[in-house]
Amino acid sequence: MSVVVVVGAQWGDEGKGKVVDLFTERADLVVRYGGGANAGHTLVIEGKKLVTHLVPSGVCHPGKGCVLGDGMVIDPHTLLDEIAECQARGLLMKNELVVGRGAHVILPYHKLLDGLREDRGATRGKAIGTTRRGIGPAYEAKAARRGVRVRDLAKPERLRELVAGNLDELTPLIVHLGGSAPTQAEVTKWIDDALRAGEQLAPYVGEAGRLVADAINAKQHVLFEGAQGCLLDLDHGTYPYVTSSSTIAAGACQSAGLGPTQIDSVVGITKAYATRVGSGPFPTELHGEAGERLRQAGGEFGATTGRPRRCGWLDLPALRMGVRLSGMESLALTKLDVLANLPEVSVCVAYKLDGKELDEPPTDPEDLVRAEPIYQTFPGWGPLGTAKSIGDLPPTARAYVETISGMAGVPFCLVSIGPDRAETIRLSDPFG
Ligand code: IMP
Repeated sequence: MSVVVVVGAQWGDEGKGKVVDLFTERADLVVRYGGGANAGHTLVIEGKKLVTHLVPSGVCHPGKGCVLGDGMVIDPHTLLDEIAECQARGLLMKNELVVGRGAHVILPYHKLLDGLREDRGATRGKAIGTTRRGIGPAYEAKAARRGVRVRDLAKPERLRELVAGNLDELTPLIVHLGGSAPTQAEVTKWIDDALRAGEQLAPYVGEAGRLVADAINAKQHVLFEGAQGCLLDLDHGTYPYVTSSSTIAAGACQSAGLGPTQIDSVVGITKAYATRVGSGPFPTELHGEAGERLRQAGGEFGATTGRPRRCGWLDLPALRMGVRLSGMESLALTKLDVLANLPEVSVCVAYKLDGKELDEPPTDPEDLVRAEPIYQTFPGWGPLGTAKSIGDLPPTARAYVETISGMAGVPFCLVSIGPDRAETIRLSDPFG
């Protein structure tokens, strides 16, 4: 196995940062393939927190290549801040980072539009609850073939022309949504800032697709790091409460420009319970004290926006759907320790809708809201200690883990029982 894709199995925030960090030990190249600064990875290096939004979690292993694929939408200023922060910690000092020339650029008017739409949506109970990082508007521009790409940051005339063309169409929309028409001075500043950022990023810009292909051909270990989770996928997630990119494993092929036959293995990451940020159906959500307990125990606050995450029981039909959508062959279970010391732990094993039992969530959001989760409940368990194998876990925790894997239909490759690298039960290595 030399090409492995890691994807979140639910709505993101499954703890991909720790898992990617562990898998990077055996990887030569780590590739982020979709989304932008809407993602947030909290990494702990020598006891100090490092939060990255764009740079892959593999950054903690100096000397390993990090690639931002062409399918991403990149805020150049956020990226420069992150590079500076990494370098202040001695990371990314050896030309490890390559930013795809074809990736799209997020400009201030994308963020402005994202925020205006959210504000307007909120007054009508229709906000998506986006991260307001301009992700949707930047992908809209891309699909409309009006986007600004990283390569355009090195061409001042082209950039000016693209921005003017975009704003010609978008200014009436900005005003319609309650914003002020950008002044000429503002637009000039946006462009000058972008050009300056482009100059600073120039040493990192390269042919990401070719680089990845060369690494694969050279039989190097390539790890694709998914962002968000399968249920936030633009085509297959809980639309419209999704992000604007392809978050499933196939997105890796699209973004990096490689064929599906080159992927050797897909690992899904699932938390031992479920969380969601933003709006949208979440049938196993726990409200009140029960949800608050999980939120506090799991530190469930967004790494990007600081928003409290909605918390609930693990949803196995949704997990099955994630397994199917991404072709997962193994799973990494994270944050099992967070469930310790609860009187009991439940897991949704099926849905009931109109008298029928469903083994995957209904795909129509209106049906999903009506569907009733069917739960299996386990007696709680105490602290997990320093378990090194599944057999070391308390019997009920073990039964819980085995039920998840049995119902998802794929084995676990690791179970995480704490934030530290050492607090991990390793069962198999995705690189073989
Ligand atoms: P956007 O990606 O900022 O447009 O937000 C769309 C939806 O995806 C919102 O519900 C966000 O909360 C959610 N979302 C985007 N990125 C992440 C992430 O990295 N983790 C969890 N939720 C996310």
